[in-house]
Amino acid sequence: MTATFDSMIRDLRPADPLEIVFPDRISNQARRMVGLFPGSMLYAVKCNPKPQMLTALWQGGIRHFDAASIEEIALVRGLLPDAVIAFMNPVKPRAHIGAAWELGVTIFAVDSQAELDKVLTVSPETVIVRLALPKGAAGRDQSGKFGVPVEQAADVLRRARPHVRRLGLTFHVGSQCADPAAYAHAMELAAQAELLSGVGVDVVDVGGGFPAAYLGYQPPDFADFVAAIRARATGKDVWCEPGRALVAGGEALVTQVVGRKNDSLFLNDGIYGGLSPDPLTGHRYLARTIKADGAGETARTYPFRLFGPTCDSWDCLPLPYDLPEDIAEGDWIVFEGTGAYAGALRTRFNGMGSAKTLIFAG
Ligand SMILES: Cc1ncc(COP(=O)(O)O)c(C=O)c1O
Repeated sequence: MTATFDSMIRDLRPADPLEIVFPDRISNQARRMVGLFPGSMLYAVKCNPKPQMLTALWQGGIRHFDAASIEEIALVRGLLPDAVIAFMNPVKPRAHIGAAWELGVTIFAVDSQAELDKVLTVSPETVIVRLALPKGAAGRDQSGKFGVPVEQAADVLRRARPHVRRLGLTFHVGSQCADPAAYAHAMELAAQAELLSGVGVDVVDVGGGFPAAYLGYQPPDFADFVAAIRARATGKDVWCEPGRALVAGGEALVTQVVGRKNDSLFLNDGIYGGLSPDPLTGHRYLARTIKADGAGETARTYPFRLFGPTCDSWDCLPLPYDLPEDIAEGDWIVFEGTGAYAGALRTRFNGMGSAKTLIFAG
């Protein structure tokens, strides 16, 4: 694949950032994860909402989608009319709840009595109460914004029970969570909330957070997470909402070197473009170089600082990258495994950052 891919890049000579989607990789990853998980798997659309990504996931067996906004709901409904869509943002504009209902959404997350009241203005089939978790072992903590402590979750469950056919609990252990036990601990808290509520809960949705591989980091296998979750499942419906683990490996980003100053490389994409979030998890992408002059990569490498194209001096990747010491203006750097959040967080800051998309079969 590499030789074909590299010659394609040399033919195209992309001068703008190029996001390459690998639909087969995405479908295969979805097929594997859906096959291992004992319940429904909802894809977290926010992670990468590209239509090509959504259809590749559908082809791999994903039928459920976790949407955080009315735009995501409309996108999925338009593309995949038979998809089951859940509105999992725990705090939603009132008007968007009605609009989601009109688009066939019957599953809603809440994390307060006030939000439950808003959601009950339609007739949800399923309400999922979001639990707050203590800060855990994830690369990117998600504990500070959403969720209620166990006692309040129990109150919301009790209030919701008479109004819905299905009642659930959910949580988010944090993105790029390396520890399967984090799911088991969170499921224990969910069991406490159910017990305290005195009403039955039908669904435990263990959220997202499953890790992806990055340069020098091989995560535990998804099967290890499934084993930890299964051990606590106690006969309920179990759902999960992966984003990163499903799609990280399904994209690569091709950037071009626009200038070199000693050990600093200036690229046509940076933290305000497609290289934004993953440095926050402390990981680097696997990166390799395609020489513009057709030469092979030299074996000798050097640690380079990588700057993005904007005028902001923060536009610099936090960790250096080892790249061929003769790298020069016009060469391309291919970052592998950029499918999760990277493109989704692109901005147009400084009038830069737009990228093209290319589908690469095989
Ligand atoms: C409610 C919810 N579910 C799922 C996800 C997906 O998380 P990840 O990409 O870490 O699997 C997120 C991400 O923020 C989220 O907020």
